[in-house]
Amino acid sequence: MPIAKNARIFIAGHRGLVGSAVVRALRGHGYENLLVRSRSELDLTEQAAVREYFERERPAVVILAAARVGGIHANSSRPAAFIRDNLAIQDHTIDSAYRCGVEKFVFLGSSCIYPKLAPQPIKEEYLLTGPLEPTNEWYAIAKIAGLKMCQAYRREYGFNAIALMPTNLYGPGDNFDLRTSHVLPALIRKFHEAAVRGDDSVTIWGTGTPRREFLHVDDLADALLHLLLHYDGEEIVNIGCGEDVTIRELAELIGSIVGFQGRQLYDSAKPDGTPRKLLDVARLARLGWRPRIGLRAGIEQTYAWFVKHVADARRPLEN
Ligand SMILES: NC(=O)c1ccc[n+]([C@@H]2O[C@H](COP(=O)([O-])OP(=O)(O)OC[C@H]3O[C@@H](n4cnc5c(N)ncnc54)[C@H](OP(=O)(O)O)[C@@H]3O)[C@@H](O)[C@H]2O)c1
Repeated sequence: MPIAKNARIFIAGHRGLVGSAVVRALRGHGYENLLVRSRSELDLTEQAAVREYFERERPAVVILAAARVGGIHANSSRPAAFIRDNLAIQDHTIDSAYRCGVEKFVFLGSSCIYPKLAPQPIKEEYLLTGPLEPTNEWYAIAKIAGLKMCQAYRREYGFNAIALMPTNLYGPGDNFDLRTSHVLPALIRKFHEAAVRGDDSVTIWGTGTPRREFLHVDDLADALLHLLLHYDGEEIVNIGCGEDVTIRELAELIGSIVGFQGRQLYDSAKPDGTPRKLLDVARLARLGWRPRIGLRAGIEQTYAWFVKHVADARRPLEN
């Protein structure tokens, strides 16, 4: 769907990893009429406030990049918050967008919606073919409800909502708080602090054997913009780079970028999560998009951002 350069575009979650990259990408492509609200200005779990905002602002396009997001620890220690907040945020935003005449809606799910033991690489049609990874099933169930809501609103009301399933993302603006962060920013911070202190070793959660795929968030934003403009279908679309690495390989890469000289130890008492998670990106390739940022270059750029912002990062950097 073509989108006028002066279209009113609401980016929910614009201060987050994904939302801030989407804002950069939209501005880079000449979209300047961007609507943004922080959580303190508009709490998307408050239904009446969301409806009132949409009625007042009347966006033409909505990109939902707001969610309660976190790693294994945050997911398993706050199950109620993860399922409640995510269901509420997406329910209120999708329904208000439909009722207020939004022309295009982009919903973001995640690769964790797929069954724990899905065949690899994971095709979109493997959704709901087996049990989920238990450590983040609260989040995954909410996200599955969100993508189904998009499909249901398209079928019943003709609402133009698309649902994209990104792989693990990283990049500038990521969450480096060890209590709630994902594995890649957590490793950057751990190795950086160990290198600064001159530690002999760094201990990494799990066995180091799980395989994961990582996409730079600027690539995700570029893919999102491409699909915003060129895709109007009901089918969900995976967004990834099509390649994975073991956590051990990732740790070695980050250790070498950060310049950590010590040993890498693995705490196998900690949970590993899903053994392998690599998205099949054939549908995305057919839709005409490919990634541009390699893993080493992407981590080098992210580490440079981390070092520059370590003093004033958006979340407190205490353990
Ligand atoms: N990060 C990944 O690896 C990854 C991978 C796949 C999919 N995704 C998806 O991408 C989306 C964004 O993730 P992210 O990594 O960018 O998360 P993030 O960095 O934690 O940002 C989340 C954003 O959501 C906002 N938010 C949270 N609760 C809110 C509420 N109740 N009301 C209003 N705003 C609220 C936050 O606003 P404040 O800043 O104002 O608090 C923040 O800007 C999520 O749907 C996630 O599932 C992420």
